Amino acid sequence: DDARARLIRQLSAFDWGLVRELAQLVKEQTFGPEIAEFKPAPVVPLSRPAEEVAEARRTGEAAVREGTVAAFVVAGGQGSRLRFDGPKGCYRIGPVSGKSIFQIHAERVLAAGLRYGVEIPLYVMTSETNDAQVREFFEQNELFGLPAQDVAFCTQRMLPAFDAEGRLFLDAPDHVFVSPDGHGGSYRALQSSGALDDMARRGVRHISYFQVDNPMVPAIDPVFIGEHVRTGSEMSSKVLKKREPREKLGVFADIDGALRVVEYSEMDDALQRKTLPDGSLKYAFGSIAVHAIDIDFARRMASADLPFHVAHKAIPVRGDGGEAAEPDEPNGFKLERFVFDGIPHARNPLVMEVRREDEFAPVKNLDGDDSPATARAAMMAQHRRWLRQAGVDVPERGVVEISPLFALDAEELKGKVSRLPVSDNLYLE
Ligand code: UD1
Repeated sequence: DDARARLIRQLSAFDWGLVRELAQLVKEQTFGPEIAEFKPAPVVPLSRPAEEVAEARRTGEAAVREGTVAAFVVAGGQGSRLRFDGPKGCYRIGPVSGKSIFQIHAERVLAAGLRYGVEIPLYVMTSETNDAQVREFFEQNELFGLPAQDVAFCTQRMLPAFDAEGRLFLDAPDHVFVSPDGHGGSYRALQSSGALDDMARRGVRHISYFQVDNPMVPAIDPVFIGEHVRTGSEMSSKVLKKREPREKLGVFADIDGALRVVEYSEMDDALQRKTLPDGSLKYAFGSIAVHAIDIDFARRMASADLPFHVAHKAIPVRGDGGEAAEPDEPNGFKLERFVFDGIPHARNPLVMEVRREDEFAPVKNLDGDDSPATARAAMMAQHRRWLRQAGVDVPERGVVEISPLFALDAEELKGKVSRLPVSDNLYLE
């Protein structure tokens, strides 16, 4: 009886209109990711005049100082590729300190607030799969020094997966398999949790959006905010030069005058490798999934009909013994919304280039590219570079880490250090 009640409770909470719609979508979907050649979107390049950058910085700094900017990290994903038992943000990435990714993000928000003399709120998106763990982690760590009124959580929606006939999966006798609805669910999560209202009350107008999986991302980037504000963009995005043509990054496209992201999985090999007459890569820039989003725009997107993307995945199913097990081959379809599908609806969407070595080292895989090892190496290389720019003689070997609470960038570090003792293990806080 208990099990039956549990199953009924779960089923009663489903939005059956949507479930039917999604089942239909799965049944009708055709897989042919290959998209035809398209025009790459214009990008505000790194190589613009210094005065332009300075002007953007001034605008951005003023916006932050006035309290119009909030930080928002999406952390509702399952991080299955990392095979880490727990929310990805709890992964201890600090090369010396062993700080978690969440701690690094939170400290950047705190440090930016101290720098600009304002309390910057941090909103964290979780999902049913990790919400309790994430909240507990923040509590155990005393919100990493952030005041309680400046940290808020919102939880994204879960959706069932389907087989090719549009049927649901049971992963327990009393439970239907569900998974998070994609980071596109963040608009709705911000709205339904009251976070957007909370932001409006505080005078916040722009959201600095980033993914939990990138420990190098500046939580608050005045230049980016400044470009976003001064161009009147409703949703802006950061890109960088791809490491190689097939790097797994989305690409910004100008399709019939509308800006949108084409996912790497939608482009075939030949298209990814396409070059221009001068031999350079046609789709040279990749998205690092960092956005500046206006709150009024987020509110509009929360009720917009953004598309669902269908992914063929291995769905855990209940075996004869009653235990759920993931099959070796994909057996079903998950549906997700993507945050960047809002971009075609935005006024003056802007795409800005940044340097990889300054802000992108994602933790996606257990080893190889985009793993904890490559992220730590990139973080240390950055901190060595900052130290050298500050006139400190740092050896190539050894472990180096600079806490966001000590310095957020090379400039700040320079102002703080004249002579520092340098050892093999250097940690500055
Ligand atoms: C993503 C982007 C890609 C971008 C790359 C940069 C998508 C579809 N693609 O690829 O364009 O170039 O990052 O690193 O996003 N998340 C949630 N809830 C969800 C799903 C995901 O919060 O329901 C969060 C995850 O916690 C994670 C992030 O979104 O931090 C990225 O999700 P993931 O599915 O790993 O995207 P990628 O394929 O790496």
